[in-house]
Amino acid sequence: MDIRPVREGEADRLRSLRLQALDDAPHAYFWPREAEEAVDWTPWTTSADRVMFVVEDDDVWLGMAGCSLRGDGSGVLDATGMWVSPSARGQSLGERLIDAIVKWGRERGATVMEFAVTDDNTAAIALYTRLGFTPTGRRRNLVSDPSRTGIFMAKGI
Ligand SMILES: CC(C)(COP(=O)(O)OP(=O)(O)OC[C@H]1O[C@@H](n2cnc3c(N)ncnc32)[C@H](O)[C@@H]1OP(=O)(O)O)[C@@H](O)C(=O)NCCC(=O)NCCS
Repeated sequence: MDIRPVREGEADRLRSLRLQALDDAPHAYFWPREAEEAVDWTPWTTSADRVMFVVEDDDVWLGMAGCSLRGDGSGVLDATGMWVSPSARGQSLGERLIDAIVKWGRERGATVMEFAVTDDNTAAIALYTRLGFTPTGRRRNLVSDPSRTGIFMAKGI
């Protein structure tokens, strides 16, 4: 299975994958499906300051995760959208997606990687903890359900 950046011309396919992720694991994400349906993913396929990686198996997309460089010179890389298809979990694809993000960020001068995860997502938090990410103390309510909370995790890269 390959992990590669989404290319120009693949924005619609990326939106479909993102909606697949939301349908599979709505509780893992901060935004409601209605908002996500309207997102134009084109900048994620064309801009130099962000990238979305997909897991590709024989032209089938089985996962995704991306990141963007914070434009304030802080060296922070904001990661987002982590998802691996249920059929492909437990094969280190989540870890490989994070590795790809870290490498991409380092090559562009990032020194810290940060992201939010819902505080009840024990599987994801276990993975991130194993990879050395720790809670920053910052928290954020979900847009889709403000009664639920996410924590931010970060690591120097
Ligand atoms: C979180 C997710 C991306 C992990 O993908 P993956 O390809 O299975 O990850 P990996 O194979 O690299 O690592 C699996 C790790 O996840 C954690 N994990 C998986 N299932 C778990 C469970 N039921 N309980 C606790 N930890 C679990 C463990 O740390 C495990 O590592 P281990 O096998 O060494 O114990 C995937 O489960 C997923 O897409 N979940 C739904 C969406 C989601 O939660 N996205 C994250 C948003 S922040």
